[in-house]
Order: sequence, then structure tokens, then C-alpha cells
Amino acid sequence: MIFRQLFDRTSSTYTYLLAERTGGEALLIDPVLENTDQYIRLIEELDLKLVKAVDTHIHADHVTALGALRERTGCMTAMGAMTRTECVSVHFHEGEKLTADNLHLDILYTPGHTDDSYSFVLPDRVFTGDTLLIRGTGRTDFQNGDPAAQYDSLFDKLLRLPEDTLVYPAHDYNGMTASTIGEEKRYNPRLQVSNMQAYVDLMNGLELDDPRLMDIAVPANHACGISDAA
Ligand SMILES: [Fe+2]
Repeated sequence: MIFRQLFDRTSSTYTYLLAERTGGEALLIDPVLENTDQYIRLIEELDLKLVKAVDTHIHADHVTALGALRERTGCMTAMGAMTRTECVSVHFHEGEKLTADNLHLDILYTPGHTDDSYSFVLPDRVFTGDTLLIRGTGRTDFQNGDPAAQYDSLFDKLLRLPEDTLVYPAHDYNGMTASTIGEEKRYNPRLQVSNMQAYVDLMNGLELDDPRLMDIAVPANHACGISDAA
């Protein structure tokens, strides 16, 4: 498998490039608009053909590259069925797969950070969006966030994956790049709760500032980041 973890320094976003083989089909998860040239150059250098650009959810902290990548490469754009936007070419559902050649990512619906959050699972790793971060979890105080739903997404879905499953989140603010499910079960302070109510109380007590770009990014991302449609 070809796998690259790319980092956007402005928003601390991770973008993931995946392909089964050189010369084959590639998939990008959570691309950032400002880095579109970098993605396209890397895809060319690795002799790949971008077939799908996917967002785990509507982001509030950066503008997506989905629309720009579709315009420049002709790739499909995909977001989950719960994302209320018409700009993507495909809406996926839990239980379906995202495919590039013989790479098949299982789709899990993992709401809570937003009501349109999804995670993507390979046998050895999971892309958790903002649902499960390294030693953290995505905030639940806007975009139809719901800490009780996030508790279920975490404890009933993501934490049931094998303990050695690698965790690749959509962001990290502390210099970490990857984790495992077992590591997060043991050391993620947000997961050391005894029941759903304790988690809800923890999340509702965070009192975070809104993301700097939220008023720009959310409407832009509903248009796949293409500004004249936004
Ligand atoms: Fe987010």
C-alpha cells in the first residue's frame, strides 16, 4: 500500500493519500484547499491517478479542496449521506466501502463531533476524522454536535476495533501523528469515564472558543470549497 500523511500547518489538519500500488488509483481524505498544488504534484510523482477526494465531515477550521481537486483532476468527490450538501458527486452510507483498486475502506457513521462525521476503516488502521483524536476527542458544541452520540460512536464503534488498530485522526495540535485503539483506551483522558452522562458532562464543560475560520469555512465547505458557488 502507498500511504502518505500530509500536514496543514495553519489548521493542524492531517490529509491522507492512499493507494494500493504505483500506477494505480488514489484516494485523498480531508484535503485542504491551500495545499491542492502539493497534493497534485505528489500524486503525479507517485504515478497515481486520483479517483476520489473525501471529507470525513464538514470542517469548521479550514476550507476543503474537494471542489478544486474535482475541477483539476476530474476525481469524484464524496461525503457522507448525513452531510447536507449537494456539491459532492457521491454520498456514502455506513456499511458501504470507499474503494481505490483493491483497497476497500469500510465506512462507519460516527456522529457526535458533528452529525455528519464518518470514520474509514482498513484492516490495520482507522481514519477517525474529529471523532477520536490522539489523547482527545472532537468538540461537540457546534454543527449539531452531540456528546451522547459521540460517546456511542466512540464506545460502541471505534473502541471495539482491535487494540492494535492504528488511529489516524484529522488533526493533531501536539505533535503526535498516529496512535492505536489500545493506547487511546488507556491514555486518552476523555475516554476515562464510567458512563455516558460523565462523558456528556465532561464535553459540555469545555467552554471552547469558536474556530477562527468557522464563519468562512463552514459555508465554503457546503460548496466543496469552490468560492463562486459559496
Ligand atoms: Fe471538525
